[in-house]
Amino acid sequence: MLCRRRGPLRGAFEVPGDKSVSHRALLLAALAEGQSRVRGLLRAEDVHSTWKAVEKLGARVQEEGAEVVVTPPERLHEPDDVIDCGNSGTSLRLLAGVLAGGVHGLSVLTGDASLRRRPVRRVVEPLRRMGANLSARDGDRLPPLVVRGGALAGTRHVLEVASAQVKSALLLAGLFAEGATTVAEPAASRDHTERMLARMGANLQVRGLEVTVSPGRLRGGAVDVPGDISSAAFFLCAAAALPGSEVTARGLGTNPTRTGLLDVLRAMGAPVTVAGERESAGEPRADVTVRGGTLRATTIQGTLVPRLIDELPVIMVMATQAHGRTVIRDAKELRVKESDRLAVMGETLATAGARIELFEDGCAIEGPTRLRGVAVRTRLDHRIAMSMAVAQLFAGGDEVALDDVACVATSFPSFFSTLDRLSEPPP
Ligand code: S3P
Repeated sequence: MLCRRRGPLRGAFEVPGDKSVSHRALLLAALAEGQSRVRGLLRAEDVHSTWKAVEKLGARVQEEGAEVVVTPPERLHEPDDVIDCGNSGTSLRLLAGVLAGGVHGLSVLTGDASLRRRPVRRVVEPLRRMGANLSARDGDRLPPLVVRGGALAGTRHVLEVASAQVKSALLLAGLFAEGATTVAEPAASRDHTERMLARMGANLQVRGLEVTVSPGRLRGGAVDVPGDISSAAFFLCAAAALPGSEVTARGLGTNPTRTGLLDVLRAMGAPVTVAGERESAGEPRADVTVRGGTLRATTIQGTLVPRLIDELPVIMVMATQAHGRTVIRDAKELRVKESDRLAVMGETLATAGARIELFEDGCAIEGPTRLRGVAVRTRLDHRIAMSMAVAQLFAGGDEVALDDVACVATSFPSFFSTLDRLSEPPP
């Protein structure tokens, strides 16, 4: 696809449902007693992978108007085929925890070429310490992942990296274990699993960076999915760096474990207004407006990083427009996402004329720079495709060619139509 749009960006948009919350809504509802009604579920390929997986385990998932109704089975079934998680690391890792303790029998989890290159040892090792029987390809490093469900023992886990996927896999396994399961993290990762488990009646305690769950059955109920800040980020970052812009993201999830981007926008000098704050089904949300102007460089590191990990590719694009040297550190996790996002964004932005220095755990970007047109290999990574579509807005009318945009359907099928609506057509 050839991208050729102009800023500024102006207007309001409904943010599509949060991907992380949508996965958890389907999965936890499938484990519960009684039906759950999910409002605002993200309709995108990653969530569809979890949808198909819970159906394979015996849950019934049906659309009823604006809601999705999940009817769980009496107990989860052994799947009669391999479970294909597509591009979705969250599906694969969270399911690993459920299958290890909650399904008697054999399950095999696999995915697309991108997912089959992403590490699984981070869930295999701690689950094994609970007594789980799992193995994976290439010395337990990569999917496919084979799980033979069985008895688990509650264990205390101390994670080396802040990862909501690993934390969630262990907490879900803990629902089926004998005794308590504790997960301690080095920094706070997104806490959607904890919030939803608590609302569904799990026996759960959170003390600072430690969370403990005891075995027990969940109770189904109503889930209301907030808007995904990781999707809104593309327009918020573009607007911040395009003078004359003003965009409003309606119904944006503002869970503090996810709002690092808003802190960064403010630190860079962008006016951010938060209105209509409300809480629904245990998750806060608000209407967030960002106006465009002159940005200054900032430093992103430490505990801020897990609070904006998925937004870093588009933050890198925004940093090319800020005055000064923006430094990103402690972001090595970016290398094991749908692609090695540090390497791919680093190389692609450099080809587009950005002044960028890459580190093992981050980068430094010197701005402002007028970018130029570039041909982009998106490598099955939706966020690379959307970030570079945003970069085109800073390329002074040049075109950016994306080799594959089908990957956008992973998280945000209406991305390009929203961008068209908020931007100006080419001259
Ligand atoms: C997610 C957690 C994050 C994030 C991913 C979604 C989740 O990954 O990057 O897109 O839904 O739990 P890690 O937990 O591996 O950091």
